[in-house]
Parts: sequence; structure tokens; C-alpha cells
Amino acid sequence: MQTLTITRPDDWHLHLRDGEALAAVLPDTARRFARAIVMPNLRPPVTTVALAAAYRDRILAALPAGMSAPAPGRPKAGQANSMEPRSGEQSSLLREGGAGGAGHFEPLMTLYLTDNMPAAEIDAVKASGFVHAIKLYPAGATTNSDAGVSDLKKCAATLARMEKLGVPLLVHGEVTDPAVDIFDREAVFIDSVLVPLLRDFPALKVVLEHVTTSNGIDFVKDSGANVAGTLTAHHLLLNRNALLAGGIRPHNYCLPVLKRETHRQALLAAAISGSPKFFLGTDSAPHAQSAKETACGCAGCYTAHAGIELYAEAFEAVGALDKLEAFASFHGADYYGLPRNTEKITLRRDAVTVPASLDYLAGERLVPLRAGESVAWRLA
Ligand code: NCD
Ligand code: ZN
Repeated sequence: MQTLTITRPDDWHLHLRDGEALAAVLPDTARRFARAIVMPNLRPPVTTVALAAAYRDRILAALPAGMSAPAPGRPKAGQANSMEPRSGEQSSLLREGGAGGAGHFEPLMTLYLTDNMPAAEIDAVKASGFVHAIKLYPAGATTNSDAGVSDLKKCAATLARMEKLGVPLLVHGEVTDPAVDIFDREAVFIDSVLVPLLRDFPALKVVLEHVTTSNGIDFVKDSGANVAGTLTAHHLLLNRNALLAGGIRPHNYCLPVLKRETHRQALLAAAISGSPKFFLGTDSAPHAQSAKETACGCAGCYTAHAGIELYAEAFEAVGALDKLEAFASFHGADYYGLPRNTEKITLRRDAVTVPASLDYLAGERLVPLRAGESVAWRLA
């Protein structure tokens, strides 16, 4: 197959950063994806609907010239959340939102859960129409997570409100206990946090983000339809040898860390299974070259420059290109209760050499995944 035309995809887990970094990376995503779930781990974190509104405005202002948000302006507070379109006016706004025309990009905002987020904030989320989920970072688990949750019990009232209103909880699924081996932190998190959480809130919508283990895949599969998982391209393409064998490769370092090959095989099997519980989330997470190539490097792989192309490679490698569209363009929208995009994109089977580094901040470069090597597919 030399070309592949699919419905324009969405990215259900993305780090856009802010300021100069935001302006540098946003065009890569906006060229490929109609919408993206934008992570709230800024400094300070995005903890309220008001902060999310301001961040959304900064994202829209940073869109490349000629690109805009799909709907004329942000839905006003008081309009129903898009998960429950009620009036004709709202659903036509939302259809436009989902149409995903080439000149449009819609940031889907999230809030950063803290020990003291009031349950009333969830009502504001539901009313906003532009905040779509709440993100759980266990305190200290990853980049900019020190304001994260120390104990989920403190969030019981807020979680109950989310369960009631159908607001998804997006989970960075790793324990932070220093006694737990880093390769086991996802599996231990599932048993010690997620299983009890779903026992207490059985109808809570939970997305286990960037699943990296067969344990995570089994957990998602064995849970109800309210539980889903996102998969990154780098975890589908690489195992931990790519991080540690033949020299340490900081640009392949992310959290959760790459796992052994048997786990990668389990992720691939889930991605191509056709199950609506699994969908695309790049976790593209830019860090300046100097912050990666240092004695204690930051976690995060930048993949937005080939955000859909890398998935095409992973699916093609197992003869499952026909499964890419549903995974990339349908399952996530269906889970979030948003309309599917209608526009198409075309990928060409034509190798592209990835630059050694990309423009990022003044005096700082960004090293993308596959730097200096090729990606087999190109966006037409
Ligand atoms: C992310 C980042 O840099 O913000 N890093 C990463 O390794 N994935 C945070 C995260 O999602 O864990
Ligand atoms: Zn992330």
C-alpha cells in the first residue's frame, strides 16, 4: 500500500507546554490532529476552569496563521458540556467542533487534580463545554507533578461528583513509592490504587494513560466500558533496549519508562484488536535538549513531528494498517462522547529523514524521536 487515507485523527494525550515552547510545538500537532486532550502539568498547574480558559486562549493564539478553533469562540460558561449535547444549537456547535477541517484545531482542556480540588469545580467543568477531563498525577510521579495527589481518599467528594456527571479521570498510573522497582510501578499502581478506586466508584470513567504493560492492558480489558486506555507510538515501537542497550539514549526516556518486549507485544495486540477501549494518545512531551542530555535528564519523548506517521509504522509492522483509523480517529471520540471528525488525511509510504533537532526555545533545541533517522510514512 502506497497511500493511506483515514479520517483526521485526534490525540487523546498531549503536552503542549506554554509560551515560546507552545508556539514551537503546536503546529506539528495541529497539522495532523483535529483535536487534542491537553495535559495540565504546567508550572503552576492548570487546576481551575478559569486557568484552563486562559490556557486555551493562549493555545488558540499560538496556532499557525490561517488556523483557528473550529467554533466561533469558546462555548460560554453555562452551556452544557459537550458530552451531553441537548439543544440543537449546542450540537451544531459540537458538530463543527468535531468536523476537524484542515484549518482548524480544537484544544480539549483538562484540569490537574490536587488534594483540595473542590467538588464544585466539577460542576464548573461540566458547564464549561471546553474542559473534558481531570488528570491524576500521583505526587512526584513525573514531570511537574509535585502538586499532584498525595492520597486519593482526600479527593473522594470530587471523584463522586465526576462519577455522577460523567467527567473522565485520566490517570498517570504509576506508584511513587521509592521501594517499588520502576519497571513494576504501573502494575503495582493498578492493584493498589485503580482496583480500589473502581470498587469505590464503579461507574467513574477512567482512562489509564500511556499503558506500558500487559498488566495495564488486562486491567483495561477486564474492566467495564467506563475504563479505557491510551497507547503511545513510542511504546508500540520500542522496548527498553532502545533506552539502555549499546549506550544510554536519553531521548527514548519517558515515563512510564519503556518496558520489555513481551509488554510491547501486548500493547500492539491491544492497539490492533479493534477494541473501542484503546485509542491514540501520543504523550508527546517536549523538553529542551539540554534538559534531556544531562546527568539527571527529564522524562518525555517528543513525537508530535510524526504524530500519526509513527503509529502507521507500528501498525504496518504487524500487518494491521486497516485497524489504524478506528484506533486513531473513532474510539477516543466515542469514549469522550464527542462527534467523530469528518475530514480526511492521507499518508504516503515515503521515507522522511527526521532532522537532528528542531527549533524550540531561544538558545535551546528540541531533539525529536528518531532524530537523524527516517520514518516510513509522510503526511501528504
Ligand atoms: C511528561 C512530561 O514531560 O510532561 N513526561 C513523560 O515522560 N511522559 C509527563 C508524563 O506524562 O508523564
Ligand atoms: Zn503525559
